[in-house]
Amino acid sequence: MDKLVIHGKKPLKGTVEISGAKNAVLPMMTAALLTDGITIINKVPDLRDTRTMIRLLEIVGAGVEFENGTLKIDGSTVNKLEAPYDLVKTMRASFYVMGPLLGRFGEVKVSLPGGCAWGPRPVDFHLMGMEKLGANVTLEQGYILAQGSSLKGAHICFDFPSVGATGNVVMAAVLAKGTTVIEHAAKEPDIVQLCEMLNKMGAKISGLNTSTLTINGVDELNPVEMTVIPDRIEAGTFLMAGAALGDITLNHAEPDHLKTVLDKLEEFGAHYTTEPGKINIKKADKVNAVDVTTEVYPGFPTDLQAQWMALMSITDGQSIVTDTVYHDRFTHIPELNRLGANIFLHDNVATIQGTKSLKGAQVMSTDIRASASLILAGLMAEGQTDVSRIYHIDRGYEKIEEKFSSLGAEIYRVSE
Ligand code: EPU
Repeated sequence: MDKLVIHGKKPLKGTVEISGAKNAVLPMMTAALLTDGITIINKVPDLRDTRTMIRLLEIVGAGVEFENGTLKIDGSTVNKLEAPYDLVKTMRASFYVMGPLLGRFGEVKVSLPGGCAWGPRPVDFHLMGMEKLGANVTLEQGYILAQGSSLKGAHICFDFPSVGATGNVVMAAVLAKGTTVIEHAAKEPDIVQLCEMLNKMGAKISGLNTSTLTINGVDELNPVEMTVIPDRIEAGTFLMAGAALGDITLNHAEPDHLKTVLDKLEEFGAHYTTEPGKINIKKADKVNAVDVTTEVYPGFPTDLQAQWMALMSITDGQSIVTDTVYHDRFTHIPELNRLGANIFLHDNVATIQGTKSLKGAQVMSTDIRASASLILAGLMAEGQTDVSRIYHIDRGYEKIEEKFSSLGAEIYRVSE
């Protein structure tokens, strides 16, 4: 198993290219299953998760080519309507095949994901949405079987604006007869891009960027070419590194998707400027402790909560980080504390007593964003930090050590 070795406290300077967004491309890849032509997607990040999704598309029978960041997905050969446990358990986003396969073929069998590293993460909203559209949903030997050859538009209201359930139900509804209205829909940029792709394919979805989506069903969809939006979570991670350690410019970044994060970084003390597609951030002269509460978009993203805690550890004040999206996504806290952070958790509220300086140690990744927070903490810490189990980081960050090295960090990968 690989680990990352980091010698911290090196100043960061230079330009880094942000990759295409993982959480945008995964549902776009499954949207390609809605047509029988060849879909082309550009700026696809080469990640474990995109590779897992490629395997899943191949399992269902699609033809896939992936070269130089461009994916070609041929939906004409799809013939197996099943997502097996082995893949779904390693990547919950595999569940995204449910909507398109049900919508196009009237039937799908998808393994129930089970728990994830930090908690239960149910899929009840996805299933409720499919049932409202007229599908018959049953559980058989750990697999969800959804059947419904003539889905009909429905009025669906989610208890919480779930990203995955919104994407999945939209993909099932685009080929349903009549009108579907989804209230309390997610409006994360990833979902907006999915809807834009579907509209380009011929779907009729209105209400993009709002909490109510209206979908008028169409008879068929055509393949299209798309370019994936920049990854705002990867960008946010680099922005925090820059705010603590240097003067860096992010290329292929979308400042509009990061407004809340940039506001918080300014409160922290960092200086930033933006222009279309670019963000420059300069280290804070004096660092301030800043409270953060995660919320759905455009609020502060839960996917940057762990990294923010690492950043708050180097202040000399006390800050509070509350996660309202996931109440139990805190496995990074004991690892950050091994690096000298002083973080205390009560329910979904973490209190961080800044310690000004962290000290290198051996730590272990537990999920994608927890790994990113440990790398950030390692970059800010004195001495050597070894981050093990980095297969988690490889799920969601493309060439992270190469990108940080090019900015002047001392970070390298070692095979254990
Ligand atoms: N929820 C339910 N029932 C459902 C679905 C969700 O109770 O059927 C709850 C969840 O337990 C959670 C909340 O609703 O408390 C929001 O979950 P959501 O469905 O929005 O999350 P997701 O679609 O499973 C995506 C991202 C996550 C990101 C969340 C929140 C993808 C592939 N994953 O997950 O990304 O944290 O939205 O923004 O898009 C990551 O990239 O590291 C990651 C975990």
